[in-house]
Parts: sequence; C-alpha cells; structure tokens
Amino acid sequence: MKKLRCLVTAGPTREYFDSVRFISNPSSGKMGWHIANAAERAGWETTLVLGPSGLPDASCSRTVRVVSAQDMLEECLGLFCDTDILIMSAAVSDVRPKVRVGQKVKKADIDLNPQLERTPDILATLSQMRRAGQILVGFAAETHNVLEYAAGKLEQKNLDCVVANDVSAAGLGFASDYNRVCLVLRGAGTVDLGNGPKEILAEKLVGFIAERFVKNL
Ligand code: C5P
Repeated sequence: MKKLRCLVTAGPTREYFDSVRFISNPSSGKMGWHIANAAERAGWETTLVLGPSGLPDASCSRTVRVVSAQDMLEECLGLFCDTDILIMSAAVSDVRPKVRVGQKVKKADIDLNPQLERTPDILATLSQMRRAGQILVGFAAETHNVLEYAAGKLEQKNLDCVVANDVSAAGLGFASDYNRVCLVLRGAGTVDLGNGPKEILAEKLVGFIAERFVKNL
C-alpha cells in the first residue's frame, strides 16, 4: 500500500526590513518539529517546512528550511497537491514591510513609520485548493476566548480540525517545551488533550488524526 504523505509547517517566519532587521514572533518551531517526528513514526511520509529555528532537521523524510511567509507559501504550494494530511503549526508573521532594502540601512536613515502589508494566508490559500480526501489541520494560538476563536478559524479556513493553544499562561506555548492543547472539530465539539510536554502532545495529536480521520480515507 502507498504511504500517506504528510506536510507539516513549523516555526516563525521572518519578514525583513533590510538585510539585518525583521518582524517575527517568539515561536521556536518545537511543536511542529515534534509533530513531524510523530507523523513519520506513524508511517506517514512526512515533510517539515520549518521557519528560522535553532532546531536540527526533524527525523522525517525531509526538512525544508524557509525564512519568510512568501517562501513558506511557495514550498507548500509545490507540495500540497501530493499531500494527504496537512498540519499547519507555523506561527506565520501576520504582517511584513512593504519595502525591503537589500543592504543594512544606516541607523540615522531608518524609516520610523514603515508601511506594512499583510502576509499571504498560507493555510487559507491551500484550503481553497483542497481536493476530496485531504485532511487539513490548523493551529490557533490565543491569549483569550481560545475556543471561540479556534472555532472561527475552523469555519473561515474550511478545516477539519483546529488545535487551540492557550498561550496566556507563563511557561506554556511559544518557545516553551510545554503546551496546553484542545482540539476543535467540525461538527463534533472539542477534545481536550490537556497540558504536557510538546513531544507527548504531538504524539497524542497524530494518534487522534490517525484514529479519527485517516481510518476513513
Ligand atoms: O494567524 P492565524 O491565527 O489565523 O493562524 C491560524 C492558522 O493559519 C495556523 O494553522 C497558521 O499556521 C495558519 N496561517 C497561515 N498563514 C498565515 C497565518 C496563519 O498558514 N499567514
């Protein structure tokens, strides 16, 4: 039987103003990195598209390193058509500078009111291209109304599941080894995976996807 193919995104993206200054966020990529390892262990042929991160390559078929949201979009567009299971855990930067200068701008010349624009929404773009049988899982990192916002994303981006992360508590979420995770499912309420190390939560998430969605493919 042909192996199922899984595409995972992880990490932040960097949106550069010039050659040394950028907009980003504190995501470490650890959650998605553990998910990619767990997906490979589950027997899925897995590619991890990883934004700037100190992590080594994951133990999956391929780790592709990208910098910006645009790079991540282009990699994902090239892989999505052959993907059975998409898990987008990347904390993609929401905005980027309209203008990027190739060299380092001198301090005195920095534009103090730079124009920003939205980055492309990778998951929403892929979701519009989805074909029958593909499983799409998104993430929602929120500080308040966590489940409500996650349910909104499930609808807006036409997903099968949103992994809601509460990033309000100290020591959980961004850059930590621990997380708190609740799954929001289409028409099937929520499943609380609880608090714990990201490695364990990644294993639980992949196990849940295998049991709930892959069995019916
Ligand atoms: O940013 P937002 O909270 O809407 O992110 C929800 C989901 O969409 C996450 O799975 C994230 O990886 C994905 N996303 C994306 N491209 C963006 C923003 C978010 O793929 N530009």
